[in-house]
This record gives sequence, C-alpha cells and structure tokens, in this order.
Amino acid sequence: MLTAQEDSTLTGVGSGTPMGDLLRRYWYPIAAAEQLEDKPIKAVTLLGESLVLYRDGGGRLGLVAEACAHRRVSLVYGIPENEGIRCAYHGWRYDADGKCIEQPAEDDSSLSQNPVSIQAYRVEELGGLIFAYLGPNPAPLLPRYNLLSWEDAVWEANGSVIPCNWLQVMENMFDPIHVEWLHGRFFAHVLAQRSEEQAETFLARHAPTHMKKIAFDRFEHGVIQRSLSKSEEEPNWKTGDALFFPTTMLLGPSKVSGSAIFIVPIDDTHTWFLLHMANRVDVQLPKQERCSYFDVPGANDDGTLKTGTAHGQDYMVAVTPGEITPRNKEHLGRSDAGIVLYRQLLQDQMALVGDGGEPINVRRNEKENQCIELPKVGETSMGNGHMEVLFC
Ligand code: FES
Ligand SMILES: [Fe+2]
Repeated sequence: MLTAQEDSTLTGVGSGTPMGDLLRRYWYPIAAAEQLEDKPIKAVTLLGESLVLYRDGGGRLGLVAEACAHRRVSLVYGIPENEGIRCAYHGWRYDADGKCIEQPAEDDSSLSQNPVSIQAYRVEELGGLIFAYLGPNPAPLLPRYNLLSWEDAVWEANGSVIPCNWLQVMENMFDPIHVEWLHGRFFAHVLAQRSEEQAETFLARHAPTHMKKIAFDRFEHGVIQRSLSKSEEEPNWKTGDALFFPTTMLLGPSKVSGSAIFIVPIDDTHTWFLLHMANRVDVQLPKQERCSYFDVPGANDDGTLKTGTAHGQDYMVAVTPGEITPRNKEHLGRSDAGIVLYRQLLQDQMALVGDGGEPINVRRNEKENQCIELPKVGETSMGNGHMEVLFC
C-alpha cells in the first residue's frame, strides 16, 4: 500500500513535479501522421501541456504552445503557412522553433527590438506516427523499436483516450493474472448474459486456463514480463512481453509482425492508449509512410462501458477505480508482484533524475538505436532482477 502522498508523487505528470520531470526524459507518440492529412493542425495535450501540432506548407512539422504570445488566442485556429503557423486573430506568425517572425500590424522594428517567442518542442515522424519530446536538451534519440523501423511493413494503429491517470493503465499491463479472469471468466459471464450460445462458443475457443506462474526479469532498459498457463514452450512464457521504460510495451515474438503499446500521459487524468501494429508482407512494397489509424471508444453512447470486448474490459478496469486510483486504500497480494516492481522502478528512476542522473532507456547511441528488438530472457537479467510467483 502507498501513502496518499506517494500516490500523488507517482501519478502527477506536471512540469516541475518529480514524475513530470522523469517522464519528460522520453519521447511519446502524439498523433498518427494520417491525422494531419485532411486538416494539417491538431490540438494536442501531453504531460499536462496544451499544444498545437501542425504541418506547414513546406511539409515541416511544428509543435508549439497553444496560446499566442500576443493576446493568448488559441493557435488551434491558426493558419499553417509556407513556413510556420499564423495566429487567426492579428496574424502573428511563428516558426517551428516558436520564434515570432511576423507581426503584420506592428512597426518593422518591433520584432528586432522586442523579440517574442512561444514554447516549441521537438517532433519526429517514425512508423507512420508523430512523436514529441518535451524534456531538457540535448534531446535523446527517438527509440527505433523494431516494428517502427521496418520499411517493408504495413502499419496500422488504433487508440483510445481513457479518462484516468496513466499509472493505472500501466499497472493493468503489469498484471498478467487479469487475463485469466477479466478476459476469460468475466468475458464468458458477460456473453452468457446475452446468450448461452455466445458464451459456449467463446468458451470452446478461449476456455480460460489457470495461470501457473508469472515472472518478471529486469533488463537494461526495463522489465520482461512472462506468464505460464500450459507449458514452458508457450510464447507467453518463453519470450513474454517487454516494457521499455517508462511506458512502451513490445508484444510477442514474430519476424513477420510486431505490435507495441504506447501509454501516453495526456495529463493527470487522461491517457492515450495506442496500439501500433506492423505486418511484413511477402511482396515488394514502396517504402511505407502512412499508418492507418482509428479511435476505439471504450464507452457506449449512453455512457455505459463496453464490457463485451477485451479492449472495453481493460477500459473498465482502468476507469472504475476513479480518475486516480486511491492507492492508500488498496490491499495488494503476492500476485501483484509486477505492480510493486514497476512502482519501485519508477521511484528509483525519479530519485535518479532528482539527483541529476540520466534514467534508463534514454537513447544516445545511434548504432544501438537502429532496430530495437525484444530482449531475450536469460541473456539480459540484471543481478537479482529475476522474480517468479508460483500459483497452485
Ligand atoms: S492574439 Fe494572436 S496575433 Fe493577436
Ligand atoms: Fe487486459
């Protein structure tokens, strides 16, 4: 159990908070490039900062603070120009560095005498997604996870904005036991309420199997998570999924396809869950630059939650504890070992950043950043970084 103060320190993403400072050391996806095609401007909130993402007439991306420096009107209504973005109200124009380069109704000497700028951040495109970095300079390299760097793959992505804090979405991913229950026995229960036939079909295909053990292995950049329900040869045990600190999960092993989950802290009470998938096809393709994207709602139009899909079930367990789970009221058990480990890792890395250090998985080596693969269990464990929990 955490104290209310520890809970608040672990969950707050604002600038100048311990967790906000740690999370700002990493890149996050903020949009699929496709989302700028019809309208080259998009409101984005990341780590509690209200921003505007745009593509100018020269094809350059920009990410700037939402409020115009003049009289604070929103640049979400701005006009992308050949270079930069122009405010709708009086036409002030800003370049991608946030520097104001034109003030049509002012004297020509105004800008040279009183330079004006707004906050601007680094953005890069990879795998059909647009990533942003809000931290201190020099910015690290944008991690080239395997599926993002495959040039012969067809990409697709989907996502949900979940109205809760990012940590509870992450903690669900460090909880393998829930697969047996939430996506197994509860799923069958939901279907049985609709019709016995649906439940029987589901159980015939996906009969929930009892989890025999779960394991967590620390590696240089994060944690490998595994679970065993049938045999030691099953992929969930042999390979598992890998967390690349702090919020990227590479799933499953395959040479022909890959998937990653990016958990993006929008602000203290909203999180973007983004699933990105890449399929390598057996034909010669031109280099792929697009990634199709669609939103998956977690709730029905009447506000009830969609419990009849695995995604809806994960959404339900993320939002029902409240916007921020009151962790001072929890009762953790031994099956929560992964959650305890992840919280400890976050606390250690926050302390490291507080002491002026560089946290794990900040990439600065070009050679090691060409194509980041899932680590292999056993080759990467650190010291006593192996933990196993057995169930009867
Ligand atoms: S408020 Fe933006 S130019 Fe005046
Ligand atoms: Fe799940």
